[in-house]
Order: sequence, then C-alpha cells, then structure tokens
Amino acid sequence: MKGLVLSGGKGTRLYPLTYTRAKQLIPVANKPVLFRVIEAIRDAGIDDIGVVVGDTAQEIKTAVGDGSRWDVNITYIHQEQPLGIAHAVKVAREFLGDDRFVMFLADNVIQGGISALIADFGQHPEWHSQVVLTRVPQPEQYGVAELSDGRIVRLIEKPKNPPSDLILVGIYMFDSHIFEATDAIRPSWRGELEITDAIQWLIDQGYTVSPHIHEGWWIDTGAPEQMLNANNLVLEELAPEINGYVDRDSQVDARVTVEEGAEIINSVIRGPTIIGRNTRIVNSYIGPFSSVYHDVLIQNSELEYCMVLEHTTIKDVPARIQDSLIGRGVEITQSPVKPKALKLTLGDHSKVGLL
Ligand code: G1P
Repeated sequence: MKGLVLSGGKGTRLYPLTYTRAKQLIPVANKPVLFRVIEAIRDAGIDDIGVVVGDTAQEIKTAVGDGSRWDVNITYIHQEQPLGIAHAVKVAREFLGDDRFVMFLADNVIQGGISALIADFGQHPEWHSQVVLTRVPQPEQYGVAELSDGRIVRLIEKPKNPPSDLILVGIYMFDSHIFEATDAIRPSWRGELEITDAIQWLIDQGYTVSPHIHEGWWIDTGAPEQMLNANNLVLEELAPEINGYVDRDSQVDARVTVEEGAEIINSVIRGPTIIGRNTRIVNSYIGPFSSVYHDVLIQNSELEYCMVLEHTTIKDVPARIQDSLIGRGVEITQSPVKPKALKLTLGDHSKVGLL
C-alpha cells in the first residue's frame, strides 16, 4: 500500500499565521500537523508516501525533506492549482500506479492513528474503498454520509440540510478504481473535483465502499479555535519528559514536557504543557494546555491555554495571556517610553482581545 498526503491549500482561515507559513507546518504540541500525519502513516507500516503540494511547495519540501528522518520515502507531487481533492488524486496517478492507497488530508489530527484502519482495509481485498466517518455538531460544513443498514447510500458535500451528523473526516482508502471515478465526475459549484462525488460515483457503479465510524476525537485544524483544541487534545496524550534544565526555585508538575536546552528559572509550570528546545521561562507562570515552541523567551509574565511559536518574546506583560495563538518572532512587552498606551504593530487580519 502507498500513502498520499494532501498538503496544498492556502489556509485562509488561519490568517495571519498562514501568510508566512503553510498551515500544515503549524506545530500542535510542538510538532507540525503534517509530521504527525506522516508518522501515523509510517506507524501503519506504509513507507512509500506521496505528498501533494501547491503554492507552499518549497517550504514543505524544506521542512519534510526526503523522509529519511521517519524511514520513509517521500515523493512530491505538484498540484498547479487547488482544484479539489479528487483532482489531487488524478495528479498523483503516476505515483500511485495500481497500488491500493490511503489518502490523508494533512491538516487533520485523529486520536489513535490509522494503523487499525489500514489493517482492516488490508484484510478486505474485496473492498474498493474505505472511508472514515465521525459525528459532529455542524455537519453542513463537511462531506456528509447517509447510511442504511450499515451501508453508505449517499454522500453529499456541504449540504444545506444534512441527512445525518456523520461526516467524512479526510482519511480515505482506495484501490485503482478511484481513477475511473475521478475521470467521470465534473467540478462542483465551488469549482472543485470533490472526492465526495468520486466516492458517490463508486457507490453508484456498485463498487464496495466500507464505512468506518471513528469514536475518538478528530480535529480539522483549519481555524484558530480548532488549532487550540487540537493542541489541548494532543497535549493530554503526550508522555511527559524533562530533558531541559529546571532550577530549584521552579515548580514543574508531572504532566510537563521540557525539551532539550530549555531552561525553567523561578517559574511555575502546570501541565499538560510542553516547553520547546532552547526556550527560557523566567519568573513566569505557564498554565495548563500550553505549547511553547523553540527559542522563545517568556519573562515576568503569565499565560495558559496558549500556543506560542518560535523566536517569540513575551516580557513583563501585566495581564495573564489566555486562549491565544501567537505566531513566530512576535514581541509582546511593556513599553518603557511614555505615553502609557498600547502600542501595536499587527499584521493584516490579526485579532487582539483587550481586557
Ligand atoms: C474536505 C472534504 C470534506 C471533508 C473535509 C474534512 O473539505 O471536501 O468532504 O468532510 O475535507 O476535513 P474542505 O476542507 O475542502 O472544505
């Protein structure tokens, strides 16, 4: 079996972070979502992985490399324009050949990985496809499945009146019949070749599409609240490790990970939380559900339920920062010069919530 990871897309709902970085490279619990996807596929025993890239190709190639870090082979496949998931499958045809494959959208995080699913698909050569479904409160934002007697009868992309709360999570398994489908379907109202329509085509032709209902958590990290939510859920599952330095005046509880080269000085850290490589936390409080990435300085400040990306400085901030997603190289400090006022240099589409 092969793996196909879709890592194109602009990530507009994550502006301003995605002006300067591919959304799949934003770290959740200090590891890019795309790396988590590659690891889930590798852990399922697949070592031949195609990564479909678009506008952010260069950045993704630089971050991921040839895959040797994970003992897998990565092949990059260019999708010149974001014309849909089924279009990405078409573009990857040469790489996929006649092999069965799993396709994974690279902004998805799923509890428990995909090893059991891949094994299930492997044990059923008569299945032409297997799709992963889960229940969500707002199914109209996704591809929705209608089941009858445990079989899929209909799939609809973003329906106004969803027939059920079961949605497609963005993890799909196929054999080469999918290419007949991607050749047969036409673009949807949003101008995309929808994978949902391609799977409906398989069903209409009498091919077997097996549904798997996922019961754990699943997050599509497309928007800031979802990103923070994914961060909370992944932190809950992290096995804590202290590899950095914690001084005698600090309190670090049992659910905290401190990465190599990090220093915790005279501070209180409550888990689940991760402090990244070469980051310094000085005279500060870091509350639960925080991920502080590498080379950050937090001094005389307090934060919790936050994601802070690399090379950021948070110093002498008089109020606790909470529920925040803070990008790279950001500076939040108390201004030493008068007048005593808020002084902000914010990128386009930034969001600031004041006291
Ligand atoms: C895509 C699929 C949709 C699926 C969703 C999962 O939506 O078209 O069927 O439910 O991914 O994240 P999109 O992200 O293109 O809106």
